[in-house]
Amino acid sequence: MRNWQGSRIAGLGYYQPPRVLTNKELSERVDTDDAWIRSRVGIERRHVADTESVADMATRAGGRALDAAGLRPAEVDLVVVATCTSVDRVPNVASRVAAELEMEGQAAYDINTACSGFSYALATADHAIRAGAAGSALVIGAERLTDYVDWKDRSTCILFGDGAGAAVLVGADEPGVGPVVWGGAAQRGSAIRIEGTSARIEQDGQTVFHWATTALTPIAQEACLRAGVKPEELAGFVPHQANLRIINAIARDLGVEEAVIARDIVSSGNTSAASTPIALAKLVQRGEVPRGAPVLLLGFGGGLTFAGQVVNCP
Ligand code: UT7
Repeated sequence: MRNWQGSRIAGLGYYQPPRVLTNKELSERVDTDDAWIRSRVGIERRHVADTESVADMATRAGGRALDAAGLRPAEVDLVVVATCTSVDRVPNVASRVAAELEMEGQAAYDINTACSGFSYALATADHAIRAGAAGSALVIGAERLTDYVDWKDRSTCILFGDGAGAAVLVGADEPGVGPVVWGGAAQRGSAIRIEGTSARIEQDGQTVFHWATTALTPIAQEACLRAGVKPEELAGFVPHQANLRIINAIARDLGVEEAVIARDIVSSGNTSAASTPIALAKLVQRGEVPRGAPVLLLGFGGGLTFAGQVVNCP
């Protein structure tokens, strides 16, 4: 295995279940309405899994990313899945994806840092390639959050959706994945909870909102600095899709209004670790960001963890 200087994204893919849950349907279940949800969070609809497991969705997204990269599953050395909604302890989701894609012999592991998971997974895969432990990697964020939603709690049940997004990383001597800036506010980690055996999502919404709109802009600036890119030079900004007001506040403070800003939350809701790869894959699929152009990924959420890096568009 040779030691590459870094890695680059060679292909992206995503999968969202066909079932769409609208705000109107939710307003028939709990005391809410379309206008409140749009104005406070920005969501119009979200996708909800039926029979698809986390591994099923991850496999479909991963298969599409491999097709986009022009690679066969057997050509990939490593599978990393970011998820916080895996039901089974063992085997892990990454191994299930490897099995479904008829891989044999690959290293496969899961990462759980909730909504920042994809950026953590991307960073560890990039580090493995730099260290010579892998020449390529399939990196996936996949969630089935609606299993953990309390459908009687109007403050949370309107927020979440299901799906998966994936990227194929290949070794490159001109790195297309910038240095990661990662960390967390562990002392306030319980502000978002999915705890115990009959777990339901709970969060102190305003605590998280305040943290997201004050602590994350410096993280985003640091990720740009470490990549040698000024925020105003970014072609795209793909933050975690938790709330349109958070997305707009960070974009404003960062000074990236001229960049293409992912606002996939409108049609997908909050899909935790799947949100940034789904949103990035859609920007690329629609041709909204030029090939090779710098895009900032910024994951944040449960834990309260964060991770961000600048990537070049495939
Ligand atoms: O992905 C992990 C990261 N998570 C986040 O980034 C989430 C960050 N937090 C947020 O996005 C927002 O705090 C929420 C969207 C979760 C909530 O919005 P908010 O503007 O902070 O609302 P709030 O919790 O302060 O509630 C304001 C009012 C309350 O009514 P009263 O007490 O003022 O009468 C709530 O009961 O809105 C009420 N409310 C609703 N009303 C209609 C809460 N949920 C709803 C609802 N429909 N669905």
